[in-house]
Amino acid sequence: MSIQTTTAPDALRLDLPTSFVWGAATAAYQIEGAADAGGRTPSIWDTYSHTPGKVQNGDTGDVADDHYHRFREDVATMKELGLQTYRFSIAWPRITSQVTADSLGPVNEEGIDFYSRLIDELLAAGIAPAATLYHWDLPQALEDAGGWPARATAERFAEYAGVVAARLGDRLGTFITLNEPWCSAYLGYGSGVHAPGRTNHADVLAAVHHLNLAHGLATTAIRAERPDATVGLTLNLAWVNPATDAPADVAAAQRIDGLQNRVFLDPVLTGSYPQDIVEATASVSDWSFVKDGDLELIRQPLDVLGVNYYSPTVVRAYDGVGEREEADGHGASTASPWPACADIEFPQLPGPYTEMGWSIDARGLTELLVRMHREHPGLQLMVTENGAAFPDRVETDGSIQDLDRIEYLRDHVQAVSDAVAAGAPVRGYYVWSLLDNFEWGYGYSKRFGIVHVDYETQERTKKASAHWYADLITAQQA
Ligand code: FCB
Repeated sequence: MSIQTTTAPDALRLDLPTSFVWGAATAAYQIEGAADAGGRTPSIWDTYSHTPGKVQNGDTGDVADDHYHRFREDVATMKELGLQTYRFSIAWPRITSQVTADSLGPVNEEGIDFYSRLIDELLAAGIAPAATLYHWDLPQALEDAGGWPARATAERFAEYAGVVAARLGDRLGTFITLNEPWCSAYLGYGSGVHAPGRTNHADVLAAVHHLNLAHGLATTAIRAERPDATVGLTLNLAWVNPATDAPADVAAAQRIDGLQNRVFLDPVLTGSYPQDIVEATASVSDWSFVKDGDLELIRQPLDVLGVNYYSPTVVRAYDGVGEREEADGHGASTASPWPACADIEFPQLPGPYTEMGWSIDARGLTELLVRMHREHPGLQLMVTENGAAFPDRVETDGSIQDLDRIEYLRDHVQAVSDAVAAGAPVRGYYVWSLLDNFEWGYGYSKRFGIVHVDYETQERTKKASAHWYADLITAQQA
């Protein structure tokens, strides 16, 4: 396939080590389907998506990309693209389908078998598997017992992580404990635009802590089974900028930085919670869910920090006049995801935008990676998600000429290379996503794939961006 020279891989000036790996990412609920197959029990996303009015168009993950039945075909596609690594997630409700707050229950062998076959298929194709253990599909039974605001959820998660390490860790070298715990806590329990759809700011902060605790306990559990495993955590770090230099705007940016970035980074990497955030949220919560010894449990050596980046964040102080803007692109809700932030607003950013309405600015990716390197020298970094939704059109010849996606990816890949040139130890890049899939509250209306999926026929078609990415990987290996 011929593509415009402006978007050709050789138009990039990349300065990356030969060890740099290229991959694609997906998540279980977004692609697997087969919601009732193989002994799987409901997760919070089954319940949420089946609740009228929650997901656009009433879409659910019941069928999705039917990847559960088509994984061999999908791995073959990955091989054709030349992917070196594939980041997928393991559905907890497939592995310990009878879990309760008190007990993990038996291991569901059919669930283990599915991921075992997937891993074998990947290895046979020469693709290194990297598994996320939690990409938002909490077993519904645990939500019924309190969900992430309850401590037992973290304890059961660690036991589940230990099971996966014991049963799959012989062939699975890389574990990402959690994907974007900010979304689990703030969108799941704050604004309610994600499952389980609750709206309580005290619960948001309790969820933050128990997600951090879950990461720490799971890291220990994985290492107990597999001392050589690579264990990471993926965060959606925000590149936060104040709208102006006014002290009130700068302070607002500092608070959002604390609530999105530092409440996760600090406990994991330095063993403390940011004092400014504990103080700023004092009217919401007394943080008594943090028990003696928890911070030592959370602060475990981290082999790699996964960074997901899509769009920049700009904040300003809200003076109470006019309607407060909350254009932070996480779905419409009358409730704010942010505890103790009624005096902060998120102004609409200048374009260009992706189809999500997210402003495009690749500099943020460089800035975040360089910041992590500056603040946490020696910490290994990986871009575990980056990509864009655009209104793709299938041409009469069946092709999808998604030049806007190619341009987005090209600029962000260049941004990664710029960070590496500035000294940041970035080990690889995963495009989000391999396939068009269930985009949470937006259902199937937003397409992030480099491979198009026809949801009527389940036919997969590589978009121009997939061909571009394959050419890029080839060029990088030459
Ligand atoms: C991230 C999620 C991923 C996908 C992309 C677009 O926040 O981790 O599942 O929805 O956004």
